[in-house]
Amino acid sequence: MTPSGRFVTFEGVEGAGKSTQLRRAASWLRARGLEVVETREPGGTPLAESVRNLLLAPRTEAVPPMAELLLMFAARSIHVGNLIRPALERGAWVLCDRFTDASYAYQGGGRGLDMDVISALEQAVQGSLRPDLTLLFDLPPEVGLSRARKRQPAADRFEQEAIQFFEKVRNVYLARAAADPARFRVLDAGGTEAEVSTRLEEALSGLLKT
Ligand SMILES: Nc1ncnc2c1ncn2[C@@H]1O[C@H](COP(=O)(O)OP(=O)(O)OP(=O)(O)O)[C@@H](O)[C@H]1O
Ligand SMILES: [Mg+2]
Repeated sequence: MTPSGRFVTFEGVEGAGKSTQLRRAASWLRARGLEVVETREPGGTPLAESVRNLLLAPRTEAVPPMAELLLMFAARSIHVGNLIRPALERGAWVLCDRFTDASYAYQGGGRGLDMDVISALEQAVQGSLRPDLTLLFDLPPEVGLSRARKRQPAADRFEQEAIQFFEKVRNVYLARAAADPARFRVLDAGGTEAEVSTRLEEALSGLLKT
């Protein structure tokens, strides 16, 4: 079965505005009569959300980067099979807060894992499924982190990383966007919420026409 809906992913460092803009995009699309599924990674189904809790909880025991990567793809396999593919097959728009570009950026860029291993897992778990559009909310990580920490001071396991980690994450995101301009739209996330959503709606309008 060929998916007939649209798959849009939201990427960027902590506090870039992904979740805020995803909610605005969902309302904008629903106002145009479309079925919209809002979801997130890691997570998106009850079982995958359980894996999310394992991944994000701060803990004293070390989490080997490869274990982190495999848990991310375990959650993704559940999410793709149980929620994303069925929604696309019935023609819904799926808006997903982080997806596989985050594995390249965080586990590849941030943790230094081999990008070829990530690519092999992507192939194994997703087959040919790739986002139709990826919105990269770009801003200096210190700006995003200060927004995120104002929102909720109790940091998850990723938010506890040093600024250099997020610089590497940002650089991988930007490199991936530059390598695949047909799929990515890079949005300057430093503006106001309304400014960012105007640019986002332009990108969605483009996808609506295809
Ligand atoms: N354009 C903006 N300007 C200023 N503050 C913003 C903007 N967009 C969102 N915020 C605020 O910044 C905080 C982080 O936004 P949001 O939760 O949408 O980011 P996120 O990318 O989803 O972060 P995380 O990766 O941590 O989930 C929120 O308190 C939100 O209200
Ligand atoms: Mg968020």
